[in-house]
Amino acid sequence: MEKTIVLITGCSSGIGRALLSHFDREPYRIVATTLPNSANAFDGDPIAQNPRFWIRSLDIGNHKKASQVVSDTAKRWGAIDILINNAGISYRSVVEDMTIEDEQHQMLVNYLGPMHLIRECIPAMRERKSGRIINVSSVGGMMAMPTMASYSASKFALEGASEALWYELKPWNIHTTLVRPGFINSLAFRKVLYSKKRQAQSQTSPYDSHYKNMAGFVEKLMAMSPCTSESVAKSIFKVARMKKPPLRVAGTTDARIFYFIRRLLPRALYHKLLYVTLPGIRHWGK
Ligand SMILES: NC(=O)c1ccc[n+]([C@@H]2O[C@H](COP(=O)([O-])OP(=O)(O)OC[C@H]3O[C@@H](n4cnc5c(N)ncnc54)[C@H](OP(=O)(O)O)[C@@H]3O)[C@@H](O)[C@H]2O)c1
Repeated sequence: MEKTIVLITGCSSGIGRALLSHFDREPYRIVATTLPNSANAFDGDPIAQNPRFWIRSLDIGNHKKASQVVSDTAKRWGAIDILINNAGISYRSVVEDMTIEDEQHQMLVNYLGPMHLIRECIPAMRERKSGRIINVSSVGGMMAMPTMASYSASKFALEGASEALWYELKPWNIHTTLVRPGFINSLAFRKVLYSKKRQAQSQTSPYDSHYKNMAGFVEKLMAMSPCTSESVAKSIFKVARMKKPPLRVAGTTDARIFYFIRRLLPRALYHKLLYVTLPGIRHWGK
């Protein structure tokens, strides 16, 4: 393994930034992408001066630019060995408040963009009969919660496609893995997006209780979580080094627990249980 070329998306903050510290060792050469308006995130960062790192600006929704990043990397260093689709956004909105543009934005960043990058990387991996694709999913890709329909839909889509890819690419020794973090003790909740309709709403929305209770609930669970962006990055790095990585990996301890709850409880009971534990549920819709 003289050199391993890794492409990681969404590196300006959170898990993506933490991943760079893990890959900051031989034999990795890392193409780290950031949103164009976050290009200054690496100002003064020694990583930007390290010849094994190449910081590129990329909006994952810009397919042409994504293809360009892959082909530029091939010219400079060679084909990508490990693709880590980490970039993601999260709309916090009830279904009724989402517009078609909001839905498209959510799907573009969390599903269509990653799928395009995967398609760009597969041919060279197939030729070399080696490669790995790591898609950062979420517990939201296994269980849906109110105000997170679109986010869950995008991660469910990523999960479905990754499962199909696992079968499709295994004959060429290309491993596909989904890493599912649950609640992370980070400030990522500050970046949640609200649909235009929600932003324009006054306090009289019939969904006020949904929004208020869910936001507080999620922020509280995130603040209580012992898992951090660094610990999730560590799990992803471990997957990148495994000989035979599994299709699904829990990125946090709660993700493992949620997985068993979802798997073991009968569906009807699971939904009922989740419903009654939603904060302030008796007051929703009143
Ligand atoms: N935090 C959690 O609790 C949690 C839980 C489960 C799963 N996840 C998943 O983990 C992944 C990383 O999230 P994180 O927690 O590290 O949150 P984060 O700090 O918000 O990181 C997300 C990264 O994606 C980038 N990004 C956003 N839109 C993009 C676009 N259109 N094109 C390219 N990059 C874009 C962001 O860039 P900017 O910094 O410039 O905005 C940021 O670097 C995501 O896929 C997320 O869904 C997170």
